[in-house]
Amino acid sequence: MTKQLRVGIIGAGGIAGLHAEAYSQIPDAARVTAVSDIDLPAAEAMSGKLGATPYEDYHAMLAVEVDAVDAVDAVDICLPHHLHADAVVAAARAGKHILCEKPLCTTPDEAAVVRRAVAEAGVTLMCAHNQLFLPAVAAAKELIAAGELGDIYEVRTNDAFRTGMTAESAGWRARTATAGGGELIDTGYHPSYLLLHLAGGQPTQVTAMLANHRLDFLEAEDSAQVLVRFDNGVIGNIATSWAYQPPSDTERFSVFGSKGSLRGGGEWLRLETIDGGSRARRFPAVDTFSAEIAHFVRCVGTGERPPHTEIEGSVVLEVIMAAYRSADSGEVVGLSGLGV
Ligand SMILES: NC(=O)c1ccc[n+]([C@@H]2O[C@H](COP(=O)([O-])OP(=O)(O)OC[C@H]3O[C@@H](n4cnc5c(N)ncnc54)[C@H](O)[C@@H]3O)[C@@H](O)[C@H]2O)c1
Repeated sequence: MTKQLRVGIIGAGGIAGLHAEAYSQIPDAARVTAVSDIDLPAAEAMSGKLGATPYEDYHAMLAVEVDAVDAVDAVDICLPHHLHADAVVAAARAGKHILCEKPLCTTPDEAAVVRRAVAEAGVTLMCAHNQLFLPAVAAAKELIAAGELGDIYEVRTNDAFRTGMTAESAGWRARTATAGGGELIDTGYHPSYLLLHLAGGQPTQVTAMLANHRLDFLEAEDSAQVLVRFDNGVIGNIATSWAYQPPSDTERFSVFGSKGSLRGGGEWLRLETIDGGSRARRFPAVDTFSAEIAHFVRCVGTGERPPHTEIEGSVVLEVIMAAYRSADSGEVVGLSGLGV
């Protein structure tokens, strides 16, 4: 039997509740032993449910002796975006493995510091890119790898919904200094990592247009369209928004190749080939947070590389920052890679 992974949650807000639930589904493999939040009652409420120790300051949680009852082997970072980099670096320096909610951090400079800290500490960092665990995404990736679509020409990803967020409920999400941008670096992060995952190559050029159609309490955009050129010839297109509700049959992703095309939602996939063939698949619903967290725990236990580490997280961030620069300047922005 493998050792139970002891996890400390940092930031006991909305998404942390789903993460905590996911750990409780794999009690043999993992247990939340500590929860930290500057809002101590929030840390106490969550730790009370989990039988964990609450902390107001995550540095104190990281400093606990390894054989203490509330020691942690790994942290799960569920903080507002501008606090991710410092928490990752502190956790890495304390020798803890890291699951980090998206985005990895908010600037390429922070991302470089994060990559250095993780490499120096030799810990595992997995980006919490939960949509990679949608069954249709995994099946699409397999079909592409098996050559069923031939050469891949274009990939499109969508993630849009009419949010109920208000000026009162937006909190840190309303400000660029705390969110790192607007919708694109938040919900738009999902179709961005999905695009990179399905396109396969490295991004080389980005151009974007942003808009704030409806949520005027946000400092930044509520909608974005981004075009990305990859070094393998693929052109990608991201459409993402909090302003509108797309038709219910809108696909989450589509891939177009020399031998055929596919489109998929979370639980369905349709493939059509140029010789007239077609295949449709439906998948059982999957809780992507549970799947992601079980995978993180397995990676730490086995040493397997997570699908997206600080490297892929940095590339996604580079694309998003390039999209912001392009939208500002009206120019196509070139990417020169991470130099790693
Ligand atoms: N994968 C997804 O689908 C998904 C969905 C929602 C949120 N998220 C991500 O999860 C993260 C958190 O989002 P949320 O919606 O849970 O936010 P939230 O505002 O509900 O929770 C953030 C928590 O962090 C706490 N906090 C703030 N500063 C702190 C500090 N210095 N130390 C400890 N705690 C501190 C706050 O008190 C709050 O409880 C973000 O990165 C967000 O993008 C991901």
